[in-house]
Amino acid sequence: MAYTVPKLKDFSSAILDKAADKLLAALDEESKTVSSEAEWKAFRDRWMARKNGVLTQINELWLKAAPKDAKRDVGQRVNEIRQKIEQKVDGAKARLRAPVMEVEHSGIEVPVEELEKYAGGIKRDADRLDITLPGIRRPLGAEHPVIKTMNEIVSVFRDLGYSVREGPEIETDYYNFEALNFPPNHPARDMQDTLFIAHQESKPLRERLLLRTHTSPVQIRTMEQMKPPVRIVIPGKVHRNDPPDASHSPMFHQIEGLAVDSDITFGDLKGTLDHAMKALFGSSVKTHFRPSYFPFTEPSAEMMVSCFICGGSGKRGSEPCRPCKQTGWIEILGCGMVDPNVYGFVDYDPRKVSGFAFGMGADRMALLKYGVDDIQLFFQGDVRFLEQFA
Ligand code: DAH
Repeated sequence: MAYTVPKLKDFSSAILDKAADKLLAALDEESKTVSSEAEWKAFRDRWMARKNGVLTQINELWLKAAPKDAKRDVGQRVNEIRQKIEQKVDGAKARLRAPVMEVEHSGIEVPVEELEKYAGGIKRDADRLDITLPGIRRPLGAEHPVIKTMNEIVSVFRDLGYSVREGPEIETDYYNFEALNFPPNHPARDMQDTLFIAHQESKPLRERLLLRTHTSPVQIRTMEQMKPPVRIVIPGKVHRNDPPDASHSPMFHQIEGLAVDSDITFGDLKGTLDHAMKALFGSSVKTHFRPSYFPFTEPSAEMMVSCFICGGSGKRGSEPCRPCKQTGWIEILGCGMVDPNVYGFVDYDPRKVSGFAFGMGADRMALLKYGVDDIQLFFQGDVRFLEQFA
């Protein structure tokens, strides 16, 4: 039976509560029966029409008729009822706009719009859904070959008891150069074409910012923070002002190592790196050290590994071996014994400690490992290239 607004003789709280409850129950019932645009309009008008809608009626029959001392109380309730009516009318409209799909067996009704939010691939034909159509494919990603190579190198050293350290890619001149024994204006700075952050001229040189050209500054940051013994590896991104080509990229990756203890020798350096290369490239590779120069190591060396492409012969059948340029050796990293001057910057006593350091290019290692001939492929994000390493 349709609801009609009663006249109230008594405006006590108890009576008002009862009347309001009855009205709201009727509102709720009627809102559920709305199933078409025409029904919704009728529903809206019955409750909200200015002329004779339920809302207008309670204003007349309840609020205006209330005695002065009850007006406040009645007014508050009428306001609450108005909000409920507006809510129900809006709600019924929204339900019309969102057709529901009955999920078979469960009896749960799911608004189609809701479903479409989660299943972008479900096609909607008018208000019908074909849930048998395939959804959007979300393929699993894979580890990037450079990251994979870095993880492998790191885990070889982890097995030897090294821990992992990282540092900022935006560095100060102090950590990138000065504390590594590159004095201001020292020509060794030219070996690393540096990208400087602009507008730093007003700062003292050592505070000026740059993109780190190597992971070596993390050696200093670590030694500032911990006393020997230190055994760490440092994977990370580095930047240089090198134009991109098949073997250069302005952004690339390095893995640095540092071991400092009471009596570490060049023999430890050779043994450790020889072991690491055999673990990475196979037990038959040989290592070879030749003198080099880095400001932060003394003596310094470059390490070569026997070419694991041609087995050290320099030839592949009758063809020349390209990766080792027919020499049978591939240059793989820089290394050396930590220069005593470096200990001076981090408050280590060079009479009591000694150590070695090394740094290698992770992208180069990945190129060699996977036989890729262009470093740019690593940074172009082409899935057809990358998925080959999955
Ligand atoms: N930082 C050097 C570079 O990027 C590589 C290097 C050489 C790191 C010798 C070392 C080292 O730790 O001992 O060219």
